[in-house]
Amino acid sequence: MSDSLEPIIRFDHASFGFPGVIALKDISLSINAGEFVGVIGPNGSGKTTLCRAILGLMAPVEGHLHIFDCACDALRCHHRAKIGYLPQKGAVDRNFPVTVLETVMMGRYGALGLFTRPGSKDRAIAMEALSHVEMDEHKDTALGHLSGGQQQRVFIARALAQQPKVLLLDEPTTGLDMTAQHNVIELVEHLHDELRLTIVLITHDINMIRSRVDRLVLLKTRLYAAGPPVDVLKPEILSQVYGKDLVITDKDLIIVEDYHHHH
Ligand SMILES: Nc1ncnc2c1ncn2[C@@H]1O[C@H](COP(=O)(O)OP(=O)(O)O)[C@@H](O)[C@H]1O
Ligand SMILES: [Mg+2]
Repeated sequence: MSDSLEPIIRFDHASFGFPGVIALKDISLSINAGEFVGVIGPNGSGKTTLCRAILGLMAPVEGHLHIFDCACDALRCHHRAKIGYLPQKGAVDRNFPVTVLETVMMGRYGALGLFTRPGSKDRAIAMEALSHVEMDEHKDTALGHLSGGQQQRVFIARALAQQPKVLLLDEPTTGLDMTAQHNVIELVEHLHDELRLTIVLITHDINMIRSRVDRLVLLKTRLYAAGPPVDVLKPEILSQVYGKDLVITDKDLIIVEDYHHHH
């Protein structure tokens, strides 16, 4: 639950795009300190663009975006260090010769700056991050020898080692088996509760997060809904975005076609 109603991410009629592409159109959305927000929407709906915007990697072409006390109309603003980011999966070279602890130490470099070597304090922070994701016993294991779920936990630890205020996760469960998916979502919930982090979780696992998040945000270039899951997960709202890919079972569970396979 939110500790306060202090907005730390505020989109105000903001649009983002690439040459010839409008990826997000007229987004107005505030995320408060301590909130756990789930972001859903089909592939190509602008979810990763939302991440890049929050990280200050893209400036709005229209409207405004404020993160913390920073107006992000200019790129390269300084709030990025406060945002721990787990990028969408894809580019992990399983044979890359790096250990678990070395991977997590990378999360310290942003805090240290370019010319400062990490010291024992940084190592302690990295180890603490590893213990939060219960991977401390694997600190010397080669990253490539871990399962997909374990690797995601290590990347979450790398984000935590930054000592962020916000944890931004872009489809952390994609490609994992059901048990590993469940473990990652439970870990994220645990981090929200224990570390009081603000969480922005992008996922297709609506059924897994609906009972855990404070609010759901439904995107398809535009923002179709933002509110408590019971208010967003209504057939008439979801069908606007998912069309005939929406399936509602007799148990009233809402199952949305698995978009990962089309990616
Ligand atoms: N680097 C890029 N250059 C041009 N268009 C892009 C780029 N990245 C994403 N897009 C386009 O922006 C839209 C939103 O993409 P994205 O934010 O990646 O969606 P999602 O993460 O929901 O799948 C899509 O139409 C996509 O093709
Ligand atoms: Mg994406």
